[in-house]
Amino acid sequence: MPDPIIRAATADDVEPVLALWQAAADDVDRPADTSSAVHALMTRDPEALIVAEEARRIVGTVVIGWDGWRGHIYRLAVDPSYRGLGVGSRLLEAAEQRARDQGCVRIDAIVRDGNTLAHRIWTREGYERQARWSRWVKQLDA
Ligand SMILES: CC(C)(COP(=O)(O)OP(=O)(O)OC[C@H]1O[C@@H](n2cnc3c(N)ncnc32)[C@H](O)[C@@H]1OP(=O)(O)O)[C@@H](O)C(=O)NCCC(=O)NCCS
Repeated sequence: MPDPIIRAATADDVEPVLALWQAAADDVDRPADTSSAVHALMTRDPEALIVAEEARRIVGTVVIGWDGWRGHIYRLAVDPSYRGLGVGSRLLEAAEQRARDQGCVRIDAIVRDGNTLAHRIWTREGYERQARWSRWVKQLDA
């Protein structure tokens, strides 16, 4: 049973995190990740990107964003060979604790309707799908 270190990511983690996302994240209908975007996130909030490290490898990630109003969870992903072992739950617990510590009382995640694998962990961890609301998205020009 893995017992990963759960910690904030550092600059050295950026490339391994991008590699993990390529192999493990749900990337449907979203722009490609870039190293500069991850560095920008870490500059804005050094504790937003949380990683699970096992045997010196990054095996899971989650991003907890706090804008002063709500908490948002992004990029929950676990290496396929480490799934079903509680790593995802550990990451979510860490993200929720970070949100609580900042005074956040409501938290959400954008979850693809077809991603039934993910629905299980969100449901088990107490998240409820809001059927009457949809996400409206606009891509901003640079
Ligand atoms: C969704 C995802 C992050 C879950 O990660 P995970 O590490 O497998 O999650 P957990 O191990 O905490 O929970 C998964 C299952 O393992 C079981 N589990 C949890 N802790 C366990 C433990 N200590 N021992 C054995 N099994 C355990 C859970 O019961 C759960 O099973 P369930 O489906 O019956 O609820 C992972 O499947 C993933 O990376 N998917 C692709 C990316 C993705 O879709 N991300 C979510 C975007 S919204």
